[in-house]
Amino acid sequence: MGDPFVEVRGLSRRFGEARVLDAVDLELRRGELVAIVGRSGSGKSTLLAVLGGLDRGFEGRVTVDGVDLATLGDSALARFRNHRVGLVFQAGHLREDMTVAENVELPALVGDARVPDLERRVRDVLARVGLPGRDHDRPGTLSGGQRQRVAVARALLLDPPLVLADEPTGSLDADSGNDVIALLREASEDPERRACVVVVTHDPALAACASRVLRLVDGKLVEATTERPSAGAESAA
Ligand SMILES: Nc1ncnc2c1ncn2[C@@H]1O[C@H](COP(=O)(O)OP(=O)(O)OP(=O)(O)O)[C@@H](O)[C@H]1O
Ligand SMILES: [Mg+2]
Repeated sequence: MGDPFVEVRGLSRRFGEARVLDAVDLELRRGELVAIVGRSGSGKSTLLAVLGGLDRGFEGRVTVDGVDLATLGDSALARFRNHRVGLVFQAGHLREDMTVAENVELPALVGDARVPDLERRVRDVLARVGLPGRDHDRPGTLSGGQRQRVAVARALLLDPPLVLADEPTGSLDADSGNDVIALLREASEDPERRACVVVVTHDPALAACASRVLRLVDGKLVEATTERPSAGAESAA
């Protein structure tokens, strides 16, 4: 199966006296879709921020694709974040002063390396998320579900090997939610991409697609059994 793509050892994150993550160990492989669950305030977003290189105030070791994140300087970390990680935030986070296409392009504009065929990539990824032809519209003219698709398109633009999504279906109706789930599954299952996808979710439909479900309890990650519907349940992978 090869080495884990993400390796976390003894990860702790404290805010003042509160120890939100407490010596967490975690191994993630390419091609898996892992769901993180846990009650509000249990540290789910905090964990994603560490994995995505957004937060460096942690203790312990976090290695992604063999690179110890603590060894990266600010610009190397920014490049890692924008080129190797696809991030879907809890509430979409689109720039309202930019068009849909410009929002999607953002990660490609960080660093000096030019991304070849950027325009075509943007068109392709918008078509993939079901928003063809909306390139020049402003986010304000889109529905909540469509905005979330733009956020997913941005995360998938550069086919990152690590995709981190925080409640990506949280504000969506069942149909839009299922479309977003299908996109995340495709990123992990497509043999060309085999992204390692980590989703924080309360959505049983999304958790049911996961190869593993992990629960954050008292700063620790524990295996959770997926609550699958009894009728027509898939067998565990
Ligand atoms: N920058 C920060 N400074 C201080 N405390 C923080 C900071 N970020 C998070 N926390 C605290 O850490 C705890 C975990 O927050 P986190 O956002 O990770 O929770 P969560 O599991 O994502 O919750 P939710 O399901 O509500 O999104 C909370 O008690 C929060 O107040
Ligand atoms: Mg959160």
